[in-house]
Amino acid sequence: MAQPLRFVALRFVALEVVPLRVEPAVFVLFDFAFGIIPGGFSFGDYPMPTQQTDTDGIRNQMGEEWNAAANGWTKWEPSLSNFLWPVSQQIIANVRLAPGMCVLDVGTGTGDLALQAAYHATDQGSVLGIDLSSNMLVTARNRAKALGLKQVQFKEAAGDQFAERGAGFDVVLGRFSIMFFPDVVAGLRQLRSLVKADGRVCFAVWDSHTVNPAFAIPLAALRPFVEAPNVDENAPGPLRLAGEGKLLGALEQAEFTDIRVEAIELYQFAASIEAYWVMLSDVSSSFRKQLQGLSEADQDKVKGAVFDAVAEWTVDGVVRVPARALVATAAPGS
Ligand SMILES: C[S@@+](CC[C@H](N)C(=O)[O-])C[C@H]1O[C@@H](n2cnc3c(N)ncnc32)[C@H](O)[C@@H]1O
Repeated sequence: MAQPLRFVALRFVALEVVPLRVEPAVFVLFDFAFGIIPGGFSFGDYPMPTQQTDTDGIRNQMGEEWNAAANGWTKWEPSLSNFLWPVSQQIIANVRLAPGMCVLDVGTGTGDLALQAAYHATDQGSVLGIDLSSNMLVTARNRAKALGLKQVQFKEAAGDQFAERGAGFDVVLGRFSIMFFPDVVAGLRQLRSLVKADGRVCFAVWDSHTVNPAFAIPLAALRPFVEAPNVDENAPGPLRLAGEGKLLGALEQAEFTDIRVEAIELYQFAASIEAYWVMLSDVSSSFRKQLQGLSEADQDKVKGAVFDAVAEWTVDGVVRVPARALVATAAPGS
């Protein structure tokens, strides 16, 4: 039975587990937000999947965009891993991942969650990570090799259409991937068919920018000066399942049972507001492009707006801007 949205306690990513250089974690989130990494908003230069109406076309476009983003993901891999670490830990705990389990990680990207799952499944188990993007999978394979994890394999495949090993997986996972499916409910139904009767699924998505400062800050700073993107909330994209009820509703429609949705609070770190700003303007090409299109006076106003907003999340000079993910855990039902 579905349970109401449950907000878990704030999860602090301890400074100890954040890389020595904190700025890249911030960079990555902004790349999410601005579409260098196509997991985020764009302000016009990132082609929205809504332009495609056929599902094959959406997948092809999605695969190309993520292929183009793979270098960025590889570059910032340690930061991403640390930034999203609490989500991975929650997913692994929720499905009670144990030695010997057979795991599918859908939209595995550079394999972060699959690799963490592989440690828990041990060499008695197996993990398969699938993704549309062959370039992302190159990094995933390199990471597995470097770690000597032979129980994890990666394969180029569409998660929403995957049909191998029917009902053979103990666990099916997806960290920030199912919202990119052309048809979320149809894709979830397909994934449900892959899970053993006593198995579990767990999927993470981003919550709405209205309750997600990490998404809201840059959007709000630019909004007075840049024409807002025409974001179709029902089209494949990072915020497609954001907000109360959408993720739950999609899982219910796909006939999962014992659904539980919880919010996970994350933080993006920066050593200073200036570092945060430098990241935003230097590393996110989409943001920089938008900014450079403005007059010097307006650029100063955008900078001021970002500084003011980020100041709210700064203590003793250290920036910790919150981000919020939603994590849903469910059983396949009968
Ligand atoms: C935001 S990234 C997340 C990557 C990884 N799960 C992580 O959390 O680090 C989204 C990933 O989903 C993949 N993706 C999008 N649509 C997909 C689909 N229909 N089937 C498989 N992978 C898909 C993209 O190629 C991309 O690698």
